[in-house]
Amino acid sequence: MKKFLLFGMGAIVLIPVMLISYVKFALPNLGPAPDISIELTPERITRGAYLGQICMDCHSQRDYETFAGPIVPGTHGMGGELFSPEILDEIPGNIYVPNITPFALSDWTDGEIYRAITMGVSKDGKPLFPLMPWESFGKMDDEDIYSIIAYLRTLKPIPNEIPERELIFPVNILVHTLPHKQENKLSRNNTDIIKHGEYMFTAMGCGDCHTPISKGEPIPGMTLAGGMGFNLPTGGTVFTANITPEIETGIGRMTADMFVDLFKKYEDSTFVPSKIKKGDYNTLMPWLIYSKLEEHDLRAIYAYIRTVEPVKNPVVKFDPGS
Ligand code: HEC
Ligand code: HEC
Repeated sequence: MKKFLLFGMGAIVLIPVMLISYVKFALPNLGPAPDISIELTPERITRGAYLGQICMDCHSQRDYETFAGPIVPGTHGMGGELFSPEILDEIPGNIYVPNITPFALSDWTDGEIYRAITMGVSKDGKPLFPLMPWESFGKMDDEDIYSIIAYLRTLKPIPNEIPERELIFPVNILVHTLPHKQENKLSRNNTDIIKHGEYMFTAMGCGDCHTPISKGEPIPGMTLAGGMGFNLPTGGTVFTANITPEIETGIGRMTADMFVDLFKKYEDSTFVPSKIKKGDYNTLMPWLIYSKLEEHDLRAIYAYIRTVEPVKNPVVKFDPGS
């Protein structure tokens, strides 16, 4: 009887240990990176630079003491920004944004970069925490991903070693179960404006900020309803807007022209982003990056957003804190 009990207790301890070891060492198991070789054509580099602007929102140094945190010139792709719970409660540890200039990626194959961007696996097989929007990018057309890779190859190499991330338990285990091949690919060749809008919306990662998350999952019924709070380095918290077509609390009253103007006013050559003092309003909405989107892409994104379920969710954009 005693022996049996002991065995039972051993199993209770052993099974989770074995499971954890399995998950940590055997997963992700997506096989070798695809065997591809991407020709750097001028078309691809141009297209990649257009789509890849969004990568630079995270993978560059930012000047948060200026409106909308412009990219510090000469830092494109060098990484080093730290995402931690001090910025967003939902971040389970300290995650440093890697260097994606040729300084870091020159010994990666095109297939390894493809696998990282679309499936969430680093060169050495390490799973990437989905703060890196590989879940969205994985839905993109392969030709567009090839263009982004071609563009990354043209970046100026910037020496910058990035610290290892530290994830809290159990996320450090669970993260191994996340990477996967994307089955629901979207096409980039759409004559339908709503379909084209959904594609650009996905490629630009709009949903990653505007749909609030809890415990790593999008909150059901809150698609694009906003309210996710980011603490700013200059003090205060900025909350993502409700961009559902809801009339009172969303952007239901905003016309397509108003929507386009909201972005394009930052592209005007006379626009100079203002300096931010401690506790002043600032935003993490990448207005300066998105202002360079072509008007037809912005109109398509607007048309797509109009098709999502309206959700009543009042959001106060800024809390200056104490
Ligand atoms: C919202 C912020 C964000 C955006 C936008 C973003 N990334 Fe990342 N990226 C990250 C973070 C954070 C990591 C590291 C994740 C980790 O360590 O778990 C990462 C990791 C990577 C890696 C793996 C590097 C390595 O050393 O393992 C590559 C490659 C990469 N990103 C490329 C891109 C490209 C290309 C784009 C644009 C199409 C992009 N990223 C957009 C945040 C972002
Ligand atoms: C890094 C996070 C982030 C991403 C990515 C992001 N947004 Fe935002 N967005 C915000 C925040 C924060 C606000 C509220 C503050 C402000 O208006 O700047 C906002 C505000 C807005 C507003 C203003 C709404 C209003 O009522 O004034 C619109 C429209 C919008 N976002 C659309 C988009 C679209 C479209 C995309 C993708 C092309 C996108 N956002 C991507 C964070 C983000």
